[in-house]
Amino acid sequence: MYKTHTCGELRLSHEGQTITLAGWVHRRRDHGGVTFIDLRDRFGLVQIVANPDLSADAHQMLEQVRSEWVLQVTGIVRARPAGMENPALSTGEIEVEVREVNVLNSAKHPPFLINKDEEADENTRLKYRYLDLRRETMRKNIEMRHRVVKFIRDHLDDEGFFEIETPILFKTTPEGARDYLVPSRVHPGEFYALPQSPQQLKQLLMVGGMEKYFQIARCFRDEDTRGDRQPEFTQLDIEMAFVNQREDIMNLMETMYTAMVAKLVPDKKLFASPWPRLKYQDVMDRFGTDHPDIRFGLELRDITDIAASCGFSVFENAVAGGGHVRGINATGLGDYTRKQIDELTEFAKQFGAKGLAYIAFTSTGEVRSTFVKFLTPEFIQTLKERFEVKEGDLLLFVADKPAVVYDVLFRMRVMLGDRLGLRDTTTLAFCWVIDFPYAYWNEEEQRWDPSQHLFTMPMPEDVHMIETDPANMRGTQYDMILNGYEVAGGSIRIHDRDLQEKIFKLIGLDREVARERFGHMLEAFEYGAPPHGGIASGVDRLVMLMADAPNIREVIAFPKNQAARDVMAGAPSPAEDGQLKDLHIKVHLDPAKQPKN
Ligand code: AMO
Ligand code: AMP
Repeated sequence: MYKTHTCGELRLSHEGQTITLAGWVHRRRDHGGVTFIDLRDRFGLVQIVANPDLSADAHQMLEQVRSEWVLQVTGIVRARPAGMENPALSTGEIEVEVREVNVLNSAKHPPFLINKDEEADENTRLKYRYLDLRRETMRKNIEMRHRVVKFIRDHLDDEGFFEIETPILFKTTPEGARDYLVPSRVHPGEFYALPQSPQQLKQLLMVGGMEKYFQIARCFRDEDTRGDRQPEFTQLDIEMAFVNQREDIMNLMETMYTAMVAKLVPDKKLFASPWPRLKYQDVMDRFGTDHPDIRFGLELRDITDIAASCGFSVFENAVAGGGHVRGINATGLGDYTRKQIDELTEFAKQFGAKGLAYIAFTSTGEVRSTFVKFLTPEFIQTLKERFEVKEGDLLLFVADKPAVVYDVLFRMRVMLGDRLGLRDTTTLAFCWVIDFPYAYWNEEEQRWDPSQHLFTMPMPEDVHMIETDPANMRGTQYDMILNGYEVAGGSIRIHDRDLQEKIFKLIGLDREVARERFGHMLEAFEYGAPPHGGIASGVDRLVMLMADAPNIREVIAFPKNQAARDVMAGAPSPAEDGQLKDLHIKVHLDPAKQPKN
């Protein structure tokens, strides 16, 4: 080994020892003829001192080195002179008096600073990800990810789970995105699909008698990349046989993650324990979304009932057309200027609102609004009660189709929560959302889409509604939400062929297509499939929230950028003609869509 110790471990107790270190030059300073180097490795930083009187050669060599050069240094651990200690550094009480230096490699000047957490352009960071990973924040994020996965593995091992790998080259496993396809060379014209999740395989493992399975599984989904979404990402995937209730899986996860938070981020507190279990319709009505951030108020209130004949035509027309009118109390913003309110209106319009109606109750007791003139004093009084209005509050309303009203107010609430400093990152607010509708009517395609996936069991007491009243049939789905992000989702599964075929029929899958795509599942259910259920948790999202990272790219060693490209290696990229020929593939490109790598 090049080192006897790591840079981060040296303390006063090592005083007088001759040690050898290896690492990167974090910073170099010269003071009165003496050279100081902060040497960095994964474990920390330590100060190296080169005094020309004690070691002329080493001093001369260290005068040449620059940031990010790789050194091996041998020297003697000394207590720092009184007054020169650095309490901010774990090695701050000592320094290493150098005797010998070996330059292992030099380095070009890096494209961004590594010794400071300075804003750098993200594409530059991703292009030189190997340099970005040397920065303290990235090192911490990657370490947190390791700790999370290690905790999960240990916990589930203790609980009797097997970790089992499932194939990446497989067949379509729909989870609501497009598939990534891999052409087969040996079978011309045929393709594998990369799994969107191991859903079918883990269910087949239950049929295979494995009973308790988990996997830290890579999943692939061809969908638009966002801050909380990557084309390939990692799930903690779990399935158990002989579970019959949602609680069996929910309790397993709640116990595991509660213990994980206590161990890995002891400075963070849980918002509530046990975690709240909220019904889908209630969270939609309170927060406008099925992945609510429950750390703060500003909850939505419905005024559709009283808006129908309130005198303000915008509201009345919306209700007459089957729409809703809902609002939120932006507490404390009642003194917003017209310009500030216009900005909120623009924000609402960005997400499809036609406008944003407001009533400002100023701190001086005025009521400002463009439509208050249409309203009766009784109506305003009812609003005040419903929204618990105090002086200095601002009511914001959206009237539209329910989906638009929910979505705009959901986004408004989160934006205002940020603006008002209500989204405290030291609090982890886990909650469960349950009682989802089994399926949604897809107007465009004129069919029912499952709100989770094809293999979810309806609630046992609702199964009979499958053909008569699918709109009101609930699923056994449970989603785990953390600070407004969906960090896991699962359900109890169907294990009966007839029921599975009925679900295929409900969602408009042609019998023949269903058998071609999922025949292996249907067949497996005929060979003694045990009742089973499971869940999958987004590891990237979970680590992001535990590490206080702004998006999941920050907790993935080599993520794709926002345009789904690997800008370091340059992927995707055109294939060579020979490869395409082997794969029996001809590429026809629209001239407007030439590759731009
Ligand atoms: P689902 O599709 O809800 O369920 O995925 C489970 C969890 O995976 C995370 N996730 C993602 N993370 C990053 N980038 C993405 N593109 C992405 N898509 C999903 C989310 C989500 O909650 N087979 C089912 C689970 C089951 O029923 O057991 C499934 O995949 O945190
Ligand atoms: P208008 O009648 O279009 O001048 O709008 C009067 C006020 O109502 C303005 O503040 C608009 O922003 C607001 N408004 C218009 N349409 C809607 C809507 N669908 N929901 C909420 N407010 C609206």
